[in-house]
Amino acid sequence: MSAIFLKRFLQRPFQVASIIPSSKTLIKRVADKMDLSQPRVIAEYGPGEGCHTREILRRMHPDSQIILFELDPELASHLAKQFSPDPRVTVLHADCATLSAVLAERGLPHCDYIVSGIPFSILEPEKKRELLQNTFDALAPTPESAFIIYQVTNELVSHCRHFSRVESQYCLINLPPMFITKFHKTSHAHKSPQNRPQSATAAR
Ligand SMILES: C[S@@+](CC[C@H](N)C(=O)[O-])C[C@H]1O[C@@H](n2cnc3c(N)ncnc32)[C@H](O)[C@@H]1O
Repeated sequence: MSAIFLKRFLQRPFQVASIIPSSKTLIKRVADKMDLSQPRVIAEYGPGEGCHTREILRRMHPDSQIILFELDPELASHLAKQFSPDPRVTVLHADCATLSAVLAERGLPHCDYIVSGIPFSILEPEKKRELLQNTFDALAPTPESAFIIYQVTNELVSHCRHFSRVESQYCLINLPPMFITKFHKTSHAHKSPQNRPQSATAAR
């Protein structure tokens, strides 16, 4: 699974931005940030070869759906082949900036969760600002709804002022280590066992 990822990194290093997919630990911790026991609409930005998608699908309710936005054509085609048997998955070879148009086309008012693996920190400030605003607007105004990102730096926290609550965790068991940050759309804490509120950045 990771050979295609390395190949695409060599072709487009700034867009793919990593030579190997996320570690099992990072994948588990990202999935733990969501309550997937109920039907949900999920969008994933930059799924790469699909390592997070596989774990989300393993946990996801049968009536949920996940929409994948992958900019790299070979990775998008690899995802389409890999997930074609699962009717809950839509694979788009598209920029994640098109999320609101895609939701409108499908008659979906909102997403419950948006998970992102794209290299936000290298985006131009204006593109970053627009993407964050679109992401915020696309999330449902519910206690669960959240934007979850994993990144080498935690600089996005200073750009996400519209979100009402932010929790960060540092995951050392990944190459490179990453911050996992959850931006909540509303200020109400959701207290499922999978999603306990944390107040401080914790290194593990
Ligand atoms: C660091 S890789 C993460 C891959 C995978 N999620 C993982 O954890 O291993 C970033 C991925 O985001 C994709 N990407 C970058 N910018 C994007 C954008 N604007 N829209 C959709 N995908 C994008 C890249 O092609 C690449 O597959």
